[in-house]
Amino acid sequence: MKRHLRKIAALLILVVLAGILAGCGSGTEKKARIVRIGHNQSTNHPTHIALAAFQDFINEKLGDKYRVEVYPNELLGSQNNMVQLTQTGAIDFCVASNAILDTFSKNYEIFNLPYLFASQEAYEHVMDDPAVTGPIFESTKEAGFSAVTWLDAGTRNFYTVSKAIETPADLKGMKIRVQQSPINVEMMKLLGGSATPMGFGEVYTALQSKIIDGAENNELALTDNGHGDVCKFYSYDMHQMIPDILIGNNAFLDGLTAEDRAIFEEGFQLINKVQREKWSESVEAAKTKAQNEQNVQFFYPDTKPFEEACKPLHQSVLQKNPGLQATYDAIQKYNQEFPSTGK
Ligand code: GCU
Repeated sequence: MKRHLRKIAALLILVVLAGILAGCGSGTEKKARIVRIGHNQSTNHPTHIALAAFQDFINEKLGDKYRVEVYPNELLGSQNNMVQLTQTGAIDFCVASNAILDTFSKNYEIFNLPYLFASQEAYEHVMDDPAVTGPIFESTKEAGFSAVTWLDAGTRNFYTVSKAIETPADLKGMKIRVQQSPINVEMMKLLGGSATPMGFGEVYTALQSKIIDGAENNELALTDNGHGDVCKFYSYDMHQMIPDILIGNNAFLDGLTAEDRAIFEEGFQLINKVQREKWSESVEAAKTKAQNEQNVQFFYPDTKPFEEACKPLHQSVLQKNPGLQATYDAIQKYNQEFPSTGK
């Protein structure tokens, strides 16, 4: 009888265990890997809209295996922090300005050069040419991440609290926030101003508390980030076209099956397409809003004196990093093919 009871108890345990195991099995099968993407823009920004499209795309195609989560507004930290999180794999992707990537690989210096591109068309052709971008996008492999696509971040121009910048001389004695790249510090020196490098999220408070006299960015910073509430003078000196770069953790990317990787690649192209489609209309809307609601005035100075002042930077960067010469020459070919339209 005792033996009989023991048999029943053992059977019961087996049934319960099997149940738990079966439960666990279906649980792990169902549990999708969370893919985290961080960026520093608002949810109105074309970059966020494009990443949300990617989120829907992956969730629809591979939702049983991956669930994409997008974290805007520096929720995961500043761009510098997010790049480090992507390096270690604490998050899977983030959007970083090309400007801050030159501390991870010198190859990125090239796209930080002022007045590098003759026109929007030349810029887009360069960025869309894998023969030009490939060696740059892969140059951070050892650092643990790679670029998977680029995003438009417009043209960078000066804007200030107290006066319009119409010639480089107007920058004299002015503290201007720049992105954290040695090239930007050098550029400000050549223009006669004083560079104050800091993260994007700190700029609004720095402007408001007059720690800086101005900053430089595309038009969206006026509205999306409220800089136009403080700075009323925006001058189109057009000094840089610095792309944003979506970077991914290499271990994550390399761990994808060939089929899943192909779907992710399709998704990266979708991000690029949606973001660029939205870009010009967002800039136009920001300009109208800045003019009408924030009373920002827009100025169109002669860009030549700014360009002349910055030009020595091209040669000094190429001299320090001769490996960039081939890329530089390839860019000049596109500049000849798509010259300035004088805008
Ligand atoms: C732009 C760019 C961002 C960058 C910011 C900055 O908004 O899209 O990637 O962080 O400029 O000036 O830091």
